[in-house]
Amino acid sequence: MTTKTRKKLIEVALPLEAINVASAREKAIRHGHPSTLHLWWARRPLAAARAVIFAQMVDDPSSFPDLFPTEKAQEKERARLFGIIEQLVKWENTTNETVLQKARDEIWTSWRRACAENADHPRAKELFDRNTLPAFHDPFAGGGALPLEAQRLGLEAYASDLNPVAVLINKAMIEIPPRFAGKPPVNPATRGEKSLDARQWKGAQGLADDVRYYGQWMRDEAEKRIGHLYPKVEITADMARERPDLKPYVGHRLTVIAWLWARTVKSPNPAFANVDVPLASSFLLSPMAGKEAYVEPVIENVGVPPQDLAASAGDLVGRAQLLAGKVRYRFTVKVGKPKDAEAVKNGTKLARGANFRCLMSGTPIAPDYIYAEANAGRMGARLMAVVAEGARGRVYLAPTEEQESAPLQAKPNWKPDVAMPANPRWFSPPLYGLKTFGDLFTDRQLVALKTFSDLVAEARERVSRDTAAVGLPNDGKPLREGGVGAAAYGDPVAVYLSFLVSKLADKGSTLCTWDVGPASNRTASGRSARVATVRVTFGRQALPMTWDFAEVNFFSESVGGLDTVLRTLSVPLTYLSPSSKRTLWPC
Ligand SMILES: C[S@@+](CC[C@H](N)C(=O)[O-])C[C@H]1O[C@@H](n2cnc3c(N)ncnc32)[C@H](O)[C@@H]1O
Repeated sequence: MTTKTRKKLIEVALPLEAINVASAREKAIRHGHPSTLHLWWARRPLAAARAVIFAQMVDDPSSFPDLFPTEKAQEKERARLFGIIEQLVKWENTTNETVLQKARDEIWTSWRRACAENADHPRAKELFDRNTLPAFHDPFAGGGALPLEAQRLGLEAYASDLNPVAVLINKAMIEIPPRFAGKPPVNPATRGEKSLDARQWKGAQGLADDVRYYGQWMRDEAEKRIGHLYPKVEITADMARERPDLKPYVGHRLTVIAWLWARTVKSPNPAFANVDVPLASSFLLSPMAGKEAYVEPVIENVGVPPQDLAASAGDLVGRAQLLAGKVRYRFTVKVGKPKDAEAVKNGTKLARGANFRCLMSGTPIAPDYIYAEANAGRMGARLMAVVAEGARGRVYLAPTEEQESAPLQAKPNWKPDVAMPANPRWFSPPLYGLKTFGDLFTDRQLVALKTFSDLVAEARERVSRDTAAVGLPNDGKPLREGGVGAAAYGDPVAVYLSFLVSKLADKGSTLCTWDVGPASNRTASGRSARVATVRVTFGRQALPMTWDFAEVNFFSESVGGLDTVLRTLSVPLTYLSPSSKRTLWPC
């Protein structure tokens, strides 16, 4: 026996203009968008996913000539359905229950018609139950836009994917939040609030509150353990002598936002063979009008009398002996427009790819030389500048002794040793001796990420203890075994906190670079332009080699700081509020 089906709306027409506009707008929405939970490639806009599922479930009016006998009547009905879609796709209606319910009602109406028509189907009880909508399954779910929207429209949603990261993202978006819908948090800070009983915890707001609390606990705990590796930078009178703009900060200790490093190799010029020269793709720090800043290297002769230097001209070997260990360079930071903007922009780079010049002598440094030096383990890094949090924006500073020496204390006790793929087109670091994923991090980054990772496990224990302490039941089972108590609640919190560590790794590798931002603080349309920031590891779908890199301070409140990253997790969680009967424990 065949199943009786009617033409669905998607087979006839869609309000594409409205869907396109909403989809395009969504790309600009960062605050609270579920895509900020974790990076995934080629995400589909939620608006498009929502519209497509609705239009697949709802009958087209032309299928019911008895109800809509004329084309005019059909068009009128279609226009009504389009009106529902036009409201449904708007980002601000994502959690608008009135709009969502209207859409769900239409889906039910079409479903019940299908059930009535198939009442004589031999498996009607199982396949055409008028009280149960069909389940939705996306077997290649990726970032989970389709199952999330199916769930929002009232369908029981299933997602699967080959990639475990995608599976976890789907669990975090679709499976976990409904199980805790409407539940208050367990953390002692919120539990201690007098107003707790009066507060309503909609959707996953209670879970989001716990993720925020235990994420903050992780940050504070990590700072106790490794904060000494991340010193603030003290502004001294000496520093202000060369830089009058620093005067208001003298005596203050500013929080560092990022350390800007240049990788180095030994100079190919025999006269400077002992000098680790920088491979700096740019010396520009900020082109913003009125806030220009750039790095200026200073070469210092520390012991060769000028007459000896002049006398050694033409004698390469003699000159090399003379200069050995007696000439060095340091980096200063200048503010204001540089005299030679092109030179500042180019750093020590001569051409595209691994083509540089020796800072000391101007000798070209060819790619083959860099390959050989890097693979012989002689590629290092030198601090070029420090970006700190000022009272009115970023402050760019020259390296200080304290800032250079602090990271040397970092001694990682673990490092990922998985080999990077041998595919230089998408993964070029192995060409330069960075063979494993662990090689993409500084020692300080490894220590910090390992500390955060350990703290996820500790936070999970803490959540279980706090859950038990507020009197919620504990059957000792984890969530994956259907646990319904204190032991189970540590798991979801740990899932979101592990996303936090993952996102910190994206912002905290040596593949992250300094994005100097635009020259004007206004866009062409007059809006505030974005500020200088750090480009993340996965700025694109590849891991390309970097020559200079930005190491963020996980303890700052700026770009790459844990606090900032935590908000990109906890805020979207509060918007994930599909209702479900499968909650874990009673309020
Ligand atoms: C284009 S993406 C997903 C698109 C998603 N359905 C959406 O609409 O946003 C394709 C996904 O298929 C997954 N994938 C590829 N081969 C697979 C396989 N054999 N089994 C399951 N998933 C697979 C990939 O990991 C990736 O997440």
